[in-house]
Amino acid sequence: MPGTALIGAQWGDEGKGKLTDLFAEQMDMVVRATGGDNAGHTIVVGDETYKLRLLPSGILYPHVVPVIGNGVALNPGVLLAELQGLTDRGINVSRLRISANAHLVMPYHRELDKVTERFLGRNKLGTTKRGIGPAYADKARRIGVRLQDLFDEKIFRQKVEIALKDKNQILTKLYNRMPLDIDAIMEEYFSYASSIEKYMADTSLLTNDALKAQQKVLFEGAQGTLLDIDHGTYPYVTSSNPTAGGMCVGAGVGPRALNRIVGIAKAYTTRVGGGPFPTELFGEEGAHLRKIGREFGTVTGRDRRCGWLDLPILRFAVRINSFNSFALTKLDILSEFDSLKVCVGYEYNGKRYDEMPFHQSVLHHVSPLYEILPGWQTDITQCTEYDQLPKEAMDYVAFVEEHAGVPVDIVSVGPERAQTLLRKTA
Ligand code: GDP
Ligand code: IMO
Ligand code: MG
Repeated sequence: MPGTALIGAQWGDEGKGKLTDLFAEQMDMVVRATGGDNAGHTIVVGDETYKLRLLPSGILYPHVVPVIGNGVALNPGVLLAELQGLTDRGINVSRLRISANAHLVMPYHRELDKVTERFLGRNKLGTTKRGIGPAYADKARRIGVRLQDLFDEKIFRQKVEIALKDKNQILTKLYNRMPLDIDAIMEEYFSYASSIEKYMADTSLLTNDALKAQQKVLFEGAQGTLLDIDHGTYPYVTSSNPTAGGMCVGAGVGPRALNRIVGIAKAYTTRVGGGPFPTELFGEEGAHLRKIGREFGTVTGRDRRCGWLDLPILRFAVRINSFNSFALTKLDILSEFDSLKVCVGYEYNGKRYDEMPFHQSVLHHVSPLYEILPGWQTDITQCTEYDQLPKEAMDYVAFVEEHAGVPVDIVSVGPERAQTLLRKTA
């Protein structure tokens, strides 16, 4: 079955949007299956920049069916605003299909995300405050509200009443906040219903039918492997499984639907929010990488923490996702350095770790072991073929392949579609 998945290999913002958009040209369908509007995917087409949170990046092509799967936490207000924004820019969004089983992000989820973060003080996770964690928590507690519920007024009210009852207790008694009013929520959400109904579908059936008919389906990852609630740097993670397994669950397809799984990795490392980050650069060094890489959050505008490439993390991501290959992005950002540090392992208490240590306390305290590779100090943003890269840049890519254990078959040297070098295997 012709399914391809693009999965973030680090802590998100690896360039999934750019590559999804690029791949989408060849695709019939592009599916978002995980996360919600905590994602921020940037696509640059000529002078136009699109920042998508919920919509699949394939939506820009008229021949692509964009799909939002059951695994997505859907904020309907954000969705409609995003659709309107694209419509205003001349994009036809009518092909969109959204799973009836997608869980809705409700106003109380956002409110709880904000107050719990505040309550955690210096232990806060640094979430995007989009209500994603509380929405997935309600899903797991079986008091979530799904898109399909919006079309049965009685059921919807009943479900929201149940969920809101304990939320209001928590908000007022624990956090000293005002309770939320059910009627206001009903009014807001029913006002969305008529605009969304036409998009609602059995997206699992749609996707499987497309695969059966040998259509090309692309599964667009959100977040990244190290933000996975099971495999990431818990508790500094998101509340879903943005890895390949989660992609299947969130799209309603079996594992054999993914016959090509590409890890998207930045040529260095960034993360937003709290949590361990062994190769992080601080002070001027970190600020410089942030500046040249323009590492500011798409969704929240927050500074991204920046550091050198961490290969044990990429190896880990290969293991968790069964990557066939990598796409290495933002290689151009490293062009100015005369030498480049690459983390090949860690050290803690006199012990060497070649793999990511499973114990979180160890990961918090490890020192990275670096190898130093020569830089190329040449502008590579105009390269159109892999062979045009300077030798040092190719050596950097080869070093990644050797340590990560799978080939790098795509190298990205700028935000534009054309700034992508496909190797013979891609
Ligand atoms: P995503 O969340 O994985 O889709 O990534 P984001 O869109 O949040 O962040 C990636 C940023 O890097 C965006 O601003 C992209 O336009 C930009 N970008 C992607 N690939 C490249 C590249 O190869 N070089 C440069 N300079 N920028 C890139
Ligand atoms: P894309 O798809 C980077 C991070 C947040 C925070 C943690 C939990 O653009 O790569 P959440 O709001 O999900 O409960 O926050 O996860 N995070 C992301 N970081 N890129 C993302 O998405 C992210 N989505 C969530 O910063 O540390
Ligand atoms: Mg992003």
